[in-house]
Amino acid sequence: MSLFQVYPLNNITITRAEGSYVYDENNEEYIDMYGGHAVISIGHTHPHWVKRIEDQLHQIAFYSNSIHIPIQQQLANKLNAISGKEGYQLFLCNSGAEANENALKLASFYTGRKVIVSFTKAFHGRTSLAVAATANPAIIAPVNETENVHFLPFNDVAALQTYFETNGNDVAAVIVEGIQGVGGINIASNQFLQAIRSCCNKYGALYIADSVQCGYARTGKFFAHDYAGVNADIYSMAKGMGNGFPIGGILIAPHIPAKHGMLGTTFGGNHLACAAALAVLEVIENDSLLQAATEKGAYLMQALQQIAELQNIGGYGLMIGFDLPYELKEVRKILLHNFKVFTGEAKPNVVRLLPALTISYQTIDASIIALRAAIDVAKINLINTN
Ligand SMILES: Cc1ncc(COP(=O)(O)O)c(C=O)c1O
Repeated sequence: MSLFQVYPLNNITITRAEGSYVYDENNEEYIDMYGGHAVISIGHTHPHWVKRIEDQLHQIAFYSNSIHIPIQQQLANKLNAISGKEGYQLFLCNSGAEANENALKLASFYTGRKVIVSFTKAFHGRTSLAVAATANPAIIAPVNETENVHFLPFNDVAALQTYFETNGNDVAAVIVEGIQGVGGINIASNQFLQAIRSCCNKYGALYIADSVQCGYARTGKFFAHDYAGVNADIYSMAKGMGNGFPIGGILIAPHIPAKHGMLGTTFGGNHLACAAALAVLEVIENDSLLQAATEKGAYLMQALQQIAELQNIGGYGLMIGFDLPYELKEVRKILLHNFKVFTGEAKPNVVRLLPALTISYQTIDASIIALRAAIDVAKINLINTN
């Protein structure tokens, strides 16, 4: 049987990983400046995370949500404490798309309304309503097309207010990333997020903060949305939450009551996933990773700013992007294949850096040296082809 080929693959097989490094089958070492797809928050195979999962595996890995699962409450308590979202309730699921799907569904149940406001370049996942709220028609199947989702220009306060003035009473939720990831590391301005908060307050809609990629301490705040100084009604989380163990969830404001049957899942919140997620929060707390993300992010940002060829360098903490000029678009490939550094991309020419929050300064330095070398190679190639 063949695999369903939905991904353009690099011809690399990674068999082992530790911290900010991954190794292929020939033991070749790569720096992981991509955090394995914005997922690795506390470093690959972190010993505390491995031990927590291992210990849990010997106790119980899974039982249905029809019984008490105390480790879910432990996770909720720790999340409340570290995120500062006092009194918020936790619903657990398995992925980012699922988290957004549940957030949107909950907003519709709560308000009794159908309209979802999303923004240009947004990415919220690949399942039904999450993909419908994603600003990429190429990945929306005909069955997922809906008139219930309305797209507005990102960071445009006036357009938001105008839309709400005529349609506000129909809006169930506004969903927005604090920093757009797949869309190319675009920061939502404080003013924009504050305007979303006030429109939602005025018209009784819910503010959903998609924190799947920009959450979990990556940006130096627990949620990137926190930079705006306003609270969302729902925060969706996944990626960094389990450091590679599949888990997602939503934090739900205290004023939104739960009803039986509203949301549900078989695997969400299983014992093993909760152990992984608790381990992540414990490391974030014990190793002061919020502060580390801020400090190392500033260091990385400053180093990038010394490289003349890079354009539009932006981001917070360890969620950083920059544009490559068109003629140097091969740099990312050269960096991977010649200099063994993984990075992320956003079409057409954005490079995304999302390393583990535990990355060392030496590894950051090594990645910058590699990036400079890759740019030199790309320039030589350019001269040779002209
Ligand atoms: C902001 C955002 N939301 C949602 C998702 C979907 O998450 P998942 O792939 O876990 O379903 C992603 C994935 O890249 C994302 O970046």
